[in-house]
Amino acid sequence: MYTGERSDAPEQPSHVAIIMDGNGRWAESRGLPRLQGHKRGADRVREIVEACPDLAITHLTLFAFSTENWKRPPTEVIGLMRLFRRYIKKEGARLVAEGVRVRFIGGREALDADLRALMAGLEMQTAGNDQLHLTVAINYGGRDEILRATRRVAEAVRAGKLLATEISPEVIERHLDTAGLPDPDLILRTSGEFRVSGFLPWQSAYSEFAFVDTRWPDFTAEIFAAQVRGFARRERRFGAVAG
Ligand code: IPE
Ligand code: IPE
Ligand code: MG
Repeated sequence: MYTGERSDAPEQPSHVAIIMDGNGRWAESRGLPRLQGHKRGADRVREIVEACPDLAITHLTLFAFSTENWKRPPTEVIGLMRLFRRYIKKEGARLVAEGVRVRFIGGREALDADLRALMAGLEMQTAGNDQLHLTVAINYGGRDEILRATRRVAEAVRAGKLLATEISPEVIERHLDTAGLPDPDLILRTSGEFRVSGFLPWQSAYSEFAFVDTRWPDFTAEIFAAQVRGFARRERRFGAVAG
């Protein structure tokens, strides 16, 4: 949540959110099927998670599948869903042991019941952890998130639990998928695209942005560290005058 307080620059970002883009192009440029790129992309997550403690990053949020990604060919969508299942099964125990707290954001009802169960299971198993807060966005779209939050707020008003005049930024935030999480300090997108594609529109109001040409399957801890260090040199003003 943005508190309106000015931070003392330079500082390290404690919450980094990443739009993991470029898996398809990585694969296509090698004459490989796109799913091969997604597999290699999933493998990158381990190194980035492990890099966080040394960089003093406490929150890492990853965009894995957007509400628009359903428009892709069924084979790719099915392959990605299979990859999410496999990832949770393969990496789940390790994340639990490492003290990582895992959360998922995005609309769940569109996902298969078995995947939803795996996600809920990992969230439950890691609920007591706080070494790193890892949030994975699956079937996430910022407009969809705000829409679902709005419906819940409207429902609370209808039920007489809330007055329309009491709807504040804090009330909205409490109804977003990211309720309780800090806003991202830095949003990073790989693979050279200069757009956000619906990622965290409410939460990124005062985030810094970084765009790198590297495709996600080639994204290393070194590139990550360089971007994080670059952030520390920026001056964030939050609407106030430079200090
Ligand atoms: C990002 O890589 C992963 C998902 C969106 C699931 P892409 O699959 O978008 O890769 P490009 O943009 O086609 O290269
Ligand atoms: C954004 O990437 C979503 C994820 C990285 C999961 P896309 O590749 O889907 O975005 P567009 O289509 O280039 O905007
Ligand atoms: Mg893409």
